[in-house]
Amino acid sequence: MLAQERAAADVAAGRGEAMGTEATMGREDDLDEKAGAFVGRLFDAGLGGFDLLTVYLGDRLGLYRQLAEKGSGTPDELARRAGIHPRYAREWLEQQAVSGILEVDDTQKPADQRRYSLPAAHAEALTKPDSLFSISPVARALVSATQALPQLLRAFRTGEGVAWSAYGSDMIESQGDFNRPWLVNLFGAEFLPAIPDVHQRLLADPPARVVDVACGVGWAAIAIAKSYPKVNVDGFDPDESSIDEARRLAKESGVDDRVRFEVRDGEDVGKEGPYDLAVVVEAIHDVSRRVHCTRRRCRALHVRGECSGVPPGWSRRAALGCYRDGDARRYLPGLRNQGGVPGRGGPSVRARVPAVLPAHALNRSSVKRGRPWSGP
Ligand SMILES: C[S@@+](CC[C@H](N)C(=O)[O-])C[C@H]1O[C@@H](n2cnc3c(N)ncnc32)[C@H](O)[C@@H]1O
Repeated sequence: MLAQERAAADVAAGRGEAMGTEATMGREDDLDEKAGAFVGRLFDAGLGGFDLLTVYLGDRLGLYRQLAEKGSGTPDELARRAGIHPRYAREWLEQQAVSGILEVDDTQKPADQRRYSLPAAHAEALTKPDSLFSISPVARALVSATQALPQLLRAFRTGEGVAWSAYGSDMIESQGDFNRPWLVNLFGAEFLPAIPDVHQRLLADPPARVVDVACGVGWAAIAIAKSYPKVNVDGFDPDESSIDEARRLAKESGVDDRVRFEVRDGEDVGKEGPYDLAVVVEAIHDVSRRVHCTRRRCRALHVRGECSGVPPGWSRRAALGCYRDGDARRYLPGLRNQGGVPGRGGPSVRARVPAVLPAHALNRSSVKRGRPWSGP
């Protein structure tokens, strides 16, 4: 029943004073409008969730790749090319067309004769992992977040952490692939050269030593080694699967002679310094005992410069229209909520390190001799 109808019924039933009824109607109108908008927003999120689940299928089964490389196809053709069942191919194609991800040539044709194609702009976002428009990692992150929900429910009750490994390879790869575009395209080519003393040191002799703390699958370390041919980079992360993948990627990228990945906790890097530069990409908020870890990294190692944060990549993608600048402030806490606090011991230290660094984090002011960047 709408607010007006409720108010009219109240009056008819002799409930409420005429004077008070108008004010009540106004309040209830407002409540209906806000509730409708809120429900609409969450319903849209539900539609978006289904889109991402089907994007996951298209990504993992290679369906987008088949359409991008071999052109449009009927359900049977796509099923043959990708090695999937034709009935499932048809369901997936129809959902993708209704959702506007794929185009269909003629909806009047019988279902098995319709040809589906992937528009070039969508192929850029769904099939090119180095592109700044790449988006399929978000689908993988969402799917893998659900995998660890039982552990997360437990963690909410006990305050313990959820190990990064609990999310499986989808999360590990999606995390790497999410930052990969800006790391391989911009980190060594634009962001580090914008900090002149760091840039000079990375080019100079004796070869600089760099550490990528909480390196995940290692794209930051690889990007630095590729941009600066003299430097030696150590990448440390306690997650074994991430390190295995990082080693594979370093080899594939041809930098495994200068990039060393080790299964190590961030706190351990004190044993390996001194370093000329330490980088932490999208991980300060993930590292348990992070204040301790950061102090050790910067003070005990006499680190010359530290560049922290994911925002440069976010800002660049925001400028391309991929999302609004402020979306990082919703996405990262969302992801972090799914992730609990990884590692041992859970949230044992309340850090003053901001969970989401602002867009200006990677500039001269974030590079301080022997001191961690401590927020705006
Ligand atoms: C969000 S991922 C970021 C990975 C990578 N830097 C990237 O941008 O793709 C966070 C990483 O922090 C690592 N991590 C968690 N606790 C850590 C610790 N105490 N020391 C070092 N790394 C840690 C996790 O294993 C995970 O790989």
